[in-house]
Amino acid sequence: MNTRETLKINEKGHLEIGGADACELAHRFGTPLYVFDERQIRDMMGIYRDTIEEEYGGRGLVLYASKAFSCEAMYAIAKSERIGVDVVSGGELFTALKAGFPAKNICMHGNNKLPYEIVEALDAHVGRIVIDAFSEADILDEEAERRGLIQDVLIRINPGVEAHTHAYVQTATPDSKFGFSVASGAAEEIVRYVLTKRHLHLRGFHCHIGSQIFEEQSFVLAAKKCIKFMSEMKTRISFETEELDLGGGFGIWYTDEDPKIPALGYRRYLSALIAAVKAGCKEYGLTEPFLYLEPGRSIVGEAGVTLYTVGAIKEIPGVRKYLAVDGGMFDNPRFCLYGSKYTAVLANRANEKPEEVVAVAGKCCESGDLIGTNFNLPKAKTGDILAILSTGAYNFSMASNYNRNLIPPAVLVKDGEADYIVRPQTYEDIVCRDVLPDRLK
Ligand code: LLP
Repeated sequence: MNTRETLKINEKGHLEIGGADACELAHRFGTPLYVFDERQIRDMMGIYRDTIEEEYGGRGLVLYASKAFSCEAMYAIAKSERIGVDVVSGGELFTALKAGFPAKNICMHGNNKLPYEIVEALDAHVGRIVIDAFSEADILDEEAERRGLIQDVLIRINPGVEAHTHAYVQTATPDSKFGFSVASGAAEEIVRYVLTKRHLHLRGFHCHIGSQIFEEQSFVLAAKKCIKFMSEMKTRISFETEELDLGGGFGIWYTDEDPKIPALGYRRYLSALIAAVKAGCKEYGLTEPFLYLEPGRSIVGEAGVTLYTVGAIKEIPGVRKYLAVDGGMFDNPRFCLYGSKYTAVLANRANEKPEEVVAVAGKCCESGDLIGTNFNLPKAKTGDILAILSTGAYNFSMASNYNRNLIPPAVLVKDGEADYIVRPQTYEDIVCRDVLPDRLK
């Protein structure tokens, strides 16, 4: 199990999450259910915040990458932990503002921000907008002028660093829809262009190399390339970079194939990045920039568990045994999308030894609807509570109503107490946008 003290096995032999018995949660709230450990989330936010404070004199801001798990409660927690957030859509921005999140600590991303999203961000007075297209610079400048304001912006650059992770979540390779390539000269071109805009204040650069990455060297290499680019911009066009956003991407534990990093262990990623920034600035004679970091998965991933009830069990002799659960690709599409691996625990029999290898199937109408194929479990029975661990990041965010299944609710647990942070969906929610034109009645 994970190393972050979210999970324990209690005296009843039940899985415990943030001090709450998983079986009691399943009984009280029903399954499928997303469960989040508040303490874990706060610890992670605090560790990132404190590292910047202690090792970089507070000249930086951690931005929780809210695409990992976005709901009002998450923005409220980030606010009370005194960190910022990154949002990537009008929807995330709206949620953050509704939760009372201070706009000045919001950074707006997106490789194709829609004109109305740009307007929403400007009207909300978000702190930073990260430009990822020439056309975006035009719209931003025009709309900022119309409002009589000057918007602080960063430019997303692509430093061309390949990281060891799934191709779909790599973002800084030469063939990427994100950022302006440093190597091709596109990055310099957009810098020159943005500097011509009177209603944009270019503060610096952003880069994000990908997600679920463990190699410190990949992050450090990207930071070094950004600093080198900063130096080039200074010598070539006298542009002094004030701010550098190094993105997120730090990996987490899903199975024992992954390193187990205790919460405090994440300090080393920031320490390495801070050291690289300081050394690079010294080498090139640059002023050390204000730093942003955008961890998402590492804040919320291991803090989340999904609880299911085991339903149909099907053994195909010589082939495989399937446990079907009351969820599936509609609450966790990550196995289908990336072949992601997870660890499963029978929450009501968490002390029992694994006896067999099973596949966990969902209830959607397609064969590929699996949570995984190689779970080591005690012999499961219909009615057992199955916990899939490390599902806090990019599960709820990517959930859908496929087959008109209901997206599970989410509860937040603190010291054994649980509250809804996302209420259950109802069938009425499912049909509430359907329209029957008269001619079909
Ligand atoms: N900043 C930017 C600009 C990003 O694009 C991302 C993630 C992050 C920060 C946060 O990265 P993290 O610390 O969470 O690795 N759906 C995929 C993950 C997509 C990540 C997208 N960008 C998955 O389920 O694995």
